[in-house]
Amino acid sequence: MNGKGRLILVLSVFIIFVILFSQCMETEKQLTATDTTRAGAVTCKQCHAKIYDNYLKESHANTSWPVTTDEVVRGGNPKSNEFAFDEHLKIVVEKRKDGMYQVPYFDKDQGPAKRFDIAIGSGKNAHTYGFWTGDRLTQLQLTYFRSINEWTNSPGYPQRIYFQGMGIRCLECHTSDVKPTIGEYNFDKKSIVYGINCERCHGPAGKHVEFHIKNPGDTAAKYIKLYKDLTRKQKNDACAMCHSGNSLVSLKSAFDFKPGDTIESYYHYKPAYPGSEPDVHGNQLGMLQKSMCFNKSSMTCGTCHNPHKPEEENLIAYSKKCMSCHATVKHSEKTLGNAMVKTNCINCHMPLKGSQVITYQQAGLDSVSAYKLHTHRIAVY
Ligand code: HEC
Ligand code: HEC
Ligand code: HEC
Ligand code: HEC
Ligand code: HEC
Ligand code: HEC
Ligand code: HEC
Repeated sequence: MNGKGRLILVLSVFIIFVILFSQCMETEKQLTATDTTRAGAVTCKQCHAKIYDNYLKESHANTSWPVTTDEVVRGGNPKSNEFAFDEHLKIVVEKRKDGMYQVPYFDKDQGPAKRFDIAIGSGKNAHTYGFWTGDRLTQLQLTYFRSINEWTNSPGYPQRIYFQGMGIRCLECHTSDVKPTIGEYNFDKKSIVYGINCERCHGPAGKHVEFHIKNPGDTAAKYIKLYKDLTRKQKNDACAMCHSGNSLVSLKSAFDFKPGDTIESYYHYKPAYPGSEPDVHGNQLGMLQKSMCFNKSSMTCGTCHNPHKPEEENLIAYSKKCMSCHATVKHSEKTLGNAMVKTNCINCHMPLKGSQVITYQQAGLDSVSAYKLHTHRIAVY
């Protein structure tokens, strides 16, 4: 290309940019939503119906909910409706006129009855609950664990009637918004947005919604971060916001996090005690970072998890993800003798491990049982 041709090319590219840019400014001007306007999950339904309908069934959507019916255990029927500490002291789950209650009894004497007001946990593994006293949120004493289908003394609770405030950290990982009032355990009840919704993972989408409603012909996504444009760290951080444990100092509200942000500007990590190991509960990233698979590939959470299509404990489906990188494996004769070796990699390489931080007490037992999860430290055990 000669000098003149090049000049014309540069000029025309410049003019195209000016036109495009002025059009952007034009649409930008017409929008009333800002970068922090949230639209709410229900608005997404009209254009992303299939994702929305799937989402309603996911654990994220159901990880917190207001208790409005008698069904305090979703899809389950605990073996017994009470938890006995000993022959004198027990807590009974009772239906009363205005809801479901946990009621302590000291022999025949009744103690303070507390209502199930909110539930934390989808119940895939457990439900724990809170009750309101004005704007103060307190955790109820009994927690339900699916694996044993029983009521237990809540994790960390002593063997007597006890009440502990539920703080903002639980809600940062288990709800999509809440406004604190004055006090460590005090919140504006009406401000709670239950469940982990679309905008906790995709960022505030008010502008995106407004633009696409005004421009129905535009089929390219506008004003929304695309996961495919994120770096590996940004992708992992978007999940690690809630999946990298709780040994940390918060620097700013986790509710402000949006994909593309780095986690270090929200949290400052500190081990629970010097030399402590990451825990299987809530710290999937910390465990994964201890695996060769993670350190020698560009693996992200999305390599194995599609948040819109959970594998529903299908370990065979998960194993296909392993095989996508490990087409040939050098197993010994002994290992090859195991019937699972070609189909289920998980039980051997990501075995169930008990949490060090979440243990619960069963009725009549002094010892505690651990909450078990598949470890994300992929290795030879
Ligand atoms: C009026 C229609 C409309 C509404 C309402 C809407 N979107 Fe979209 N959205 C679109 C269109 C059009 C696209 C681009 C085509 C596609 O990817 O489906 C898109 C794309 C997206 C993408 C990016 C897809 C990709 O390629 O990675 C995300 C994420 C997204 N929307 C999230 C949301 C969320 C969250 C809400 C609700 C708060 C929402 N959308 C509401 C129309 C809408
Ligand atoms: C737990 C986090 C999370 C939640 C909650 C979530 N998403 Fe996503 N979404 C993602 C991730 C991660 C991707 C990228 C997946 C990929 O590229 O494999 C994605 C992709 C998308 C896409 C584009 C790709 C596709 O599958 O079409 C759309 C549109 C979308 N999400 C909309 C929504 C809507 C609407 C909701 C709520 C009803 C929602 N998301 C809830 C994490 C989430
Ligand atoms: C705002 C906090 C938050 C974010 C962000 C988040 N999660 Fe979660 N995630 C949770 C909570 C809380 C649960 C437990 C849900 C329950 O109650 O069962 C969970 C559960 C899960 C589960 C188990 C689901 C099941 O059905 O067993 C997977 C897998 C998961 N998250 C993956 C991801 C991935 C991948 C991302 C990033 C794209 C992500 N999460 C982002 C909070 C979050
Ligand atoms: C750093 C984020 C985070 C914080 C803080 C947090 N959780 Fe969780 N929680 C999770 C994740 C992630 C899961 C899902 C799997 C796991 O255990 O890692 C979970 C699981 C649960 C479950 C079981 C849900 C199920 O059925 O699978 C309950 C109940 C629960 N949390 C209650 C609480 C309570 C109460 C608090 C506050 C004392 C709290 N969580 C604080 C992230 C968090
Ligand atoms: C994104 C690709 C990828 C995926 C997916 C993947 N791995 Fe790996 N894995 C690797 C790489 C790379 C190594 C290091 C191998 C090497 O350097 O020879 C590795 C190493 C391993 C090792 C040896 C670890 C050690 O400490 O000696 C085991 C076992 C393993 N992977 C099992 C699995 C299982 C099981 C899954 C599925 C849950 C899985 N991998 C998924 C890439 C992957
Ligand atoms: C190599 C595949 C693989 C990768 C990568 C991976 N996971 Fe998992 N994840 C699994 C398997 C397998 C399970 C067990 C499924 C089950 O029990 O239903 C699981 C279970 C979970 C659960 C349910 C609770 C638990 O611990 O059993 C959560 C939450 C979760 N993963 C989050 C994440 C997050 C966040 C990331 C990224 C930091 C991630 N996972 C990366 C394979 C993977
Ligand atoms: C019965 C338990 C068991 C099952 C099931 C199993 N492994 Fe292994 N794996 C082992 C043991 C043990 C070793 C160490 C070598 C040996 O003794 O065979 C190993 C070694 C490995 C290694 C390191 C050796 C190498 O070739 O680099 C990889 C990778 C691996 N396994 C991947 C997988 C994958 C992928 C699956 C599922 C298709 C799987 N394993 C299923 C037990 C198992």
